[in-house]
Amino acid sequence: MHHFTYRENQLYCEDVPVQTIAAAVGTPFYLYSHATLTRHLKAFQEAFEGIDHLVCFSAKANTNLAILKLFAASGCGLDIVSGGELYRGRQAGFAPDRIVYSGVGKRIDEIDDALKAGILMFNLESVDELKLIDQRAGRLNRRARVAIRVNPDVDPKTHPYISTGLKKNKFGIDTEAAIEGYRLASGLEHIEVIGIDCHIGSQITEAGPFEDALKSVKSLMIRLKSEMGIDIKYIDMGGGLGITYGDESPPSLKEYAKAFLKSLEDMAVSLILEPGRVLVGNAGILVTRVLYNKAGQDKQFIIVDAGMNDLLRPTLYNAFHAIEPVVRLDTSFTVADVVGPICESGDFLALDRNLADVTGGDLLAVMSTGAYGFVMSSNYCSRPRVAEVMVKNDQYHVVKQRETYADLIRGESLPPFLDD
Ligand code: LLP
Repeated sequence: MHHFTYRENQLYCEDVPVQTIAAAVGTPFYLYSHATLTRHLKAFQEAFEGIDHLVCFSAKANTNLAILKLFAASGCGLDIVSGGELYRGRQAGFAPDRIVYSGVGKRIDEIDDALKAGILMFNLESVDELKLIDQRAGRLNRRARVAIRVNPDVDPKTHPYISTGLKKNKFGIDTEAAIEGYRLASGLEHIEVIGIDCHIGSQITEAGPFEDALKSVKSLMIRLKSEMGIDIKYIDMGGGLGITYGDESPPSLKEYAKAFLKSLEDMAVSLILEPGRVLVGNAGILVTRVLYNKAGQDKQFIIVDAGMNDLLRPTLYNAFHAIEPVVRLDTSFTVADVVGPICESGDFLALDRNLADVTGGDLLAVMSTGAYGFVMSSNYCSRPRVAEVMVKNDQYHVVKQRETYADLIRGESLPPFLDD
């Protein structure tokens, strides 16, 4: 459910015609609906009513400050994977005791910043990391609250690049090694063991893998209590719930939550969830302008002003994003590749897509790009990163300015020896 709808053949975001924004800010740009964001977060929070829980938005999906601020103000916590995300989260007003920190490669400076901020929990991914955090906490005179990320070897049945809970993935620690990790952790002076963490992958469209992962976490929790007397206060089940991009039918929030509610109702434990995509994915679109049509020998091409540097998902994961005209015209349809201006054949937004006939100047909306869209964009080919805009009712605001050419060379410096 989202708030991008047609009124008399014009695409609107809430009460603002997308065309109006394009005329004012230029293209390409990402466009987010405040109502969709709010609705998704509320629905997610409500689905878990009935058990003690904390929803920590997974910042990596979209770190725009306006979105972070909106979520922080709605009682949400934050899942971070870097010092940069911690910084953004603090700027947006997230209380430190609602921040969890995941990721396999935390640096010392990042660990220190998180310790000083007093975050709720580090999700540890290796024994080396556990030892380092104990050491740093000692040095800073703190106690680090930790969970160990366990890898339950569950197949999330998603794209291999975004599957994380299999033995062969770099994430987490397998259950037996985790037991040893907990034994070690519980004896360390500057470590307080409070949780178990688990995240099996992203864009998961079935409830089964979540249920299997939870089963594994629950039995670990029981073993930790019986074998070592460790009381687990938090179970963090990560994110991963999929959304509808095309013909997927992921479980509803109620179905997804049911798996957790049933299994945890008799446990004195607080559930943490780290949703990313499901909160922001369908709340955003990428608006791009058609530059040219071109008839290749075998194919029709629609060349647009957004490229793989602006939206990487189609080429990186072969991901499907629906593409809709911003103004619906009564034209015939054509099968074409929608491609960008970049010098690579992998630079496409859609392949062999049945689209209304469009011509230079027409606007297209690449749907469901609120998650992992702007955040994965780059300056490849010296293309300034695009603007981001948020709409609320009949108002819109540029929440990130389009970069300028001057931004492209900011921080670069010519070595004096070039003049030798
Ligand atoms: N927690 C952890 C530890 C994660 O690694 C992730 C995503 C999440 C939560 C949020 O997962 P979500 O609810 O969004 O599925 N760039 C890829 C997705 C990578 C996801 C990485 N981790 C894409 O564009 O599909």
